[in-house]
Amino acid sequence: MKATARAHTNIALIKYWGKRDEKLFLPMNNSLSITLDAFYTTTSVEFCTCLKKDIFLLNGNIMGEAETNKMTRFLDLIRKMSGSTLYGVVDSINTVPTAAGFASSASGFAALAAASTKALKMEINDDILSQIARQGSGSACRSIHGGYVEWEKGEQLDGSDSFGKQILTENEWDLSILSVLVEPNEKKVLSREGMKRTVDTSPFYTGWLETVDDDLTVAKQAIYDRDFETLGNVLERNALKMHATTLGANPPFMYWTSATVAVMQKVQELRDNGISAYYTIDAGPNVKVLCQPEDENSVREKLMTLSVVQEIYHCHPGPGITYLPN
Ligand code: DP6
Repeated sequence: MKATARAHTNIALIKYWGKRDEKLFLPMNNSLSITLDAFYTTTSVEFCTCLKKDIFLLNGNIMGEAETNKMTRFLDLIRKMSGSTLYGVVDSINTVPTAAGFASSASGFAALAAASTKALKMEINDDILSQIARQGSGSACRSIHGGYVEWEKGEQLDGSDSFGKQILTENEWDLSILSVLVEPNEKKVLSREGMKRTVDTSPFYTGWLETVDDDLTVAKQAIYDRDFETLGNVLERNALKMHATTLGANPPFMYWTSATVAVMQKVQELRDNGISAYYTIDAGPNVKVLCQPEDENSVREKLMTLSVVQEIYHCHPGPGITYLPN
C-alpha cells in the first residue's frame, strides 16, 4: 500500500488565469506550459489500517492542521474514487523554493496524485491522473506530462474533458529557462485568491478572455515550428496582460516589486543589444527568463550584474511523472 512518485513544476507560457468552476478547478481558458527539469517534488504515500487520520511530512517536518487538512481533502477525493477508507502517511520532499511563484503546488499535487493512486493500485490513465491533480491545484494537471503541455479547458460541467495533454516531449526542443530569484519570501496574494478577485472585479478581465485563445494558437504553432522569436514575443505579451488584469481589480494588487521590474527592463535591454531573451512572471515577484541554450551563459552573466538578483536557477524542459522504488 505504498508508492513513491516524482513530479516536476511547470512554467506557464500562456497563463491559466480565472476559474469557471472553483470547486472542480475548471479554468476559463486553455493554457500552455513547459515542465521544468530542475524543480520537483518527490512524494511517498503509504496507506495503513493502523492510522486514524492522515499524516503529512514536508521536507521532514510534520505539518500542522491547516496544511494537513488541505492534503486530506485531496486524499478524500482519491479515497472516494477508489472506494478505500484508509488513511495515509504522506512524506514529501520539495526542491522548489516554496510559494515564491515557482509553482510548488503544481509539482506537489501532481506527485501526491500519482503516488496515492498508485499506492491504492487504481488503474487510471494519464488523462484521469491529470484530472485528479487538477483538483488539488489547477496548474498541477500540466505537471503530469513532460516537455510542452497544453491544458484544455474543456466544456463538460464535470471536468472530464479538462486535463493536460503533451504537445512536444522534453527531448524535441531544448530551451533555457532561467529562474531569477529576487524575493524568497511568501507571496502576499495567493494565485487562487488573486485570480478570483480579478475575475470578479477587474474590468480588464474581458480583454484577457478576448485575446488569450489567439495567444495560445500563436504560441502552439511557434512550438511546433521551433520558432523562438515568435514564442518569446507572445509569451511575454501574455504574461504582461495577465498582470495588467490585477491592476484593475478591486482592491487592486500587483505581484511585481521594483526588483521584478529591474529584471524585466534588463531583458528588454538584452534584446535591444541583439540577445534574444524573453520573460514571464507568475503570481509572485520572481521572473523566468527564456532564451536559447547557446545564449544561456551570456544571459545569466548579464542578469547577475543586477544587485537585486539573489540567485539564478537553470532549467530546461523536464520529464513528466516518474515512479520511484519505495
Ligand atoms: C499565474 O494553479 O496555483 O501561475 O488552481 O487556484 O491552485 P489554483 O491556482 P494555481 O495558479 C497558477 C496561476 C499562474 C499561471 C499558470 O500557472 O498558468
